[in-house]
Amino acid sequence: MLFGTARLTVLKTICRSHPRPHTRSFASSRPPRADRAVIYSENGDPSEVLNVLTFPDLPPPGSDSVTIQFLLSPINPADINVIEGVYPSKPIKTGALASSGKGSEEEPVFIGGNEGLAQVTAVGSSVSSLKINDWVVVTKQQHGTWSTRKNVAVTDVALIPDAHKLDEAQAATITASVNPPSAYNMLNDFVRLEKGDWVVQNGANSAVGQAVIQIAAAHGLKTINLIRNRENVELLKSQLGQLGATHVLTYDDLLDKSIRGKVKEWTGGKDIKLGLNCVGGKDTTLMSRLLGQDAHLVSYGAMSKQPLSLPTSLFIFKNLTCHGFWQRRWYADKTPQQRDTLMRTIVNMLADGQVHYCSK
Ligand SMILES: NC(=O)c1ccc[n+]([C@@H]2O[C@H](COP(=O)([O-])OP(=O)(O)OC[C@H]3O[C@@H](n4cnc5c(N)ncnc54)[C@H](OP(=O)(O)O)[C@@H]3O)[C@@H](O)[C@H]2O)c1
Repeated sequence: MLFGTARLTVLKTICRSHPRPHTRSFASSRPPRADRAVIYSENGDPSEVLNVLTFPDLPPPGSDSVTIQFLLSPINPADINVIEGVYPSKPIKTGALASSGKGSEEEPVFIGGNEGLAQVTAVGSSVSSLKINDWVVVTKQQHGTWSTRKNVAVTDVALIPDAHKLDEAQAATITASVNPPSAYNMLNDFVRLEKGDWVVQNGANSAVGQAVIQIAAAHGLKTINLIRNRENVELLKSQLGQLGATHVLTYDDLLDKSIRGKVKEWTGGKDIKLGLNCVGGKDTTLMSRLLGQDAHLVSYGAMSKQPLSLPTSLFIFKNLTCHGFWQRRWYADKTPQQRDTLMRTIVNMLADGQVHYCSK
């Protein structure tokens, strides 16, 4: 599928600036040539504030820590917002990268990135839950994953269960802590959906949107997917169709008054029970009119940067319920066992071929 593999390449290039000894069939203690991280000192436009810092060898991990080498670190829209300083969760500066200058105690820096797939390369003396070569994802928020290597507390990473079933890109983009789990949880947490039920979503070609399409299809749910118009829109429609989208419309299609009749025909008059919104603005107002009786509208992003405005009649006459979703809150509210169950579910969907990825 199209889970942002192009974006992954950027970080892979930085990480591959030193030898890559860590394929899974290869246990090696060969040291990397140099470690590097994408850092910034102040919030601002990423093209102006980001720099690459080369830092000296890491010390061995502390007794409750592990050294991890990042294999792939995605770039998400929220990562850009964090650098700009407009995202609610804030990173903490580190002074552990150098003994003097940038990255030292005197000049601490932020390291970019919130998600990443990494391999354990050294374990502290008290660590029994992880071993060298294990694949992990970073679970601590805003830990700074745009780095070649790091020492991290063992409690800040989670072992990827059954990692042998996945390749690097799958593990980094699909078991990473935000997008696919968000899709899965939004389809499960707000309304009980049965096979044959309908879901409408916008931003359908986003990484989350594609995960929604595939996870919904794997559960026998039908989806109406909204995207922005573009030159080769038919190609995108057909790609999303191949992923399992039942129907794909553009926001422009929603302006046509006959569209509600057409959607009614598609659903056989069945109420659409769930709407997923990562866009906001007037396109979402139009989308909300497709929702049926007692539907739930879940907002998880605001890509248009426009406020969400909904007709009062939907609340009075259709009993619409609106929610916000934040995967970070989900992790904070749940137990490690619930998180592990979620990850295993997604790994197994991948291994069973229910969810795929391909490049954008
Ligand atoms: N709440 C949570 O827990 C959570 C979790 C994951 C993601 N998110 C949010 O979900 C959103 C999507 O994330 P992602 O990683 O899946 O993104 P992505 O793969 O980078 O895709 C971005 C999407 O936004 C659309 N878009 C961009 N600018 C737009 C505009 N002005 N108007 C309408 N659509 C626009 C793009 O459409 P085009 O192709 O037409 O440009 C594309 O569909 C982001 O807002 C992200 O922060 C939230």
